Amino acid sequence: MLDQSRTPYADAVKAYGDHDLVRLNTPGHQVSSGAHSDLISYFGREILANDVQPFVDGIDYGTYPTPLDESLELAAAAWGARKTWFLTNGASKGNLMACLATRNLGEKIVVQRSVHSSVIDGLGLTGFDAEFVYPSVDKGLGIANGVTPESLEAAIERSGNPVAAYIVTPSYFGAVADVKALAEVAHAHNIPLIVDEAWGAHFGFHPEIPVNSIRLGADIVISSTHKLAGSLTQSAMLHLSESRFADTLEPLLDRAFKSLQSTSASALLTASLDIARKEIATRGATSISETLVAMQALRDGFNDAGRFIDIASHLMTYDDVVEIDPLRIALNTLIGGISGHEARSILFNEFGVHCEIATHSTIVLLVGAGVVPDVERIVNAFHQLPRHHDNTGHTLELPAAGERVSIVRDAYFAKTEIVDSKAAIGRVSADSVAAYPPGIPNLLPGERITAETVAFLQATIAAPYGHVRGGANPEMTAFRVVAH
Ligand SMILES: Cc1ncc(COP(=O)(O)O)c(C=O)c1O
Repeated sequence: MLDQSRTPYADAVKAYGDHDLVRLNTPGHQVSSGAHSDLISYFGREILANDVQPFVDGIDYGTYPTPLDESLELAAAAWGARKTWFLTNGASKGNLMACLATRNLGEKIVVQRSVHSSVIDGLGLTGFDAEFVYPSVDKGLGIANGVTPESLEAAIERSGNPVAAYIVTPSYFGAVADVKALAEVAHAHNIPLIVDEAWGAHFGFHPEIPVNSIRLGADIVISSTHKLAGSLTQSAMLHLSESRFADTLEPLLDRAFKSLQSTSASALLTASLDIARKEIATRGATSISETLVAMQALRDGFNDAGRFIDIASHLMTYDDVVEIDPLRIALNTLIGGISGHEARSILFNEFGVHCEIATHSTIVLLVGAGVVPDVERIVNAFHQLPRHHDNTGHTLELPAAGERVSIVRDAYFAKTEIVDSKAAIGRVSADSVAAYPPGIPNLLPGERITAETVAFLQATIAAPYGHVRGGANPEMTAFRVVAH
């Protein structure tokens, strides 16, 4: 048993920062108060002093185990992994890494259609021939859920000879899929299960929150530690489980990590991973209990006032949802007479309450593991929102995916042209285009553009706070398509 109260890497960085050094290396601010007084007054001296370049003796360089090695091992132990990589370019990098690594094993892969755009980018970079497995979709609320073991099984069979199965759980709305059963399906076909667990970095650290995917049998797990587990924005981890695939996957992941890693990975982000791991591993059981009490008070507050509906029990009616992350609440706002986008905008601008995301019909708020929010302020703000309409006739349906014409890479690198939205209908998209958040592409390179998808993206952009990522122009009046 490793001592999870230790933070070897963060301590080594701090010792370097505290040391009286003449710095003649990068970063070029060199903690100079003469040259960089603005930087110092903005960030504070200590942050700049701890902003250390990689490959420093006694931090991440030298004989094994360096403090970095020790911290990685502590993280692997905390999440139950054989090996962990610290990522300083988000879970997005973890998804690219998993794609690059597994592409060495073959050309085909099974992928949940509602994965984050970084997985689609991974398919484009690697040239994987993906067979998509479709989650259940609540069209009215605009929400994609998980996938069932049966649909994964069918997709693996359709695919022919895939080298891995790639799923995402929990969803942006907190819906958790049956990872154990999904891993059993993948393993029965002798392929590893990759789980994008970006939203579940806190899983496994409290008996009342879901168990984390590595412990449920997944083989590669991508975890956005900065999302709910408390490290700094953009810091994340990738975990590899101890399994029959590990000996093959470990060197491939190592190589992919190096290909994608900056040679100047941030020590501040890395130290934050070390400290966040210590906090959740040593105090999570207690601190998450306090968060859970607050979450229940929030749910009670919303329920008692009766205006907005918590959609958790509705999500549980889908076959591909087995649990809900209790640290997030997704509310149906339309039922309370306001769109999710508008509610989010007013809550932020007029009440100083900044929620995670909104769709046309919902708003999602989340509370970091161990954080205790001001319940009364939040519930009061929600109930002062204006009411514009009744709850009928205002839904914005999530469009079904268009026909798939080519693999992602072929369309991405094809000769392309930009056409207006009318002319785009029926053409093959060269772009990955996603209502953001949640950043799940509504249109993939290689998919035929439908009138429904164009209408959905344009309606998304027209809504207050609506944003679409990856389009040929921000107004979504133009689309990049494969040239005839
Ligand atoms: C499911 C999922 N995976 C990966 C990512 C990318 O995470 P990051 O922002 O840490 O790069 C996101 C971001 O929202 C996500 O929702």
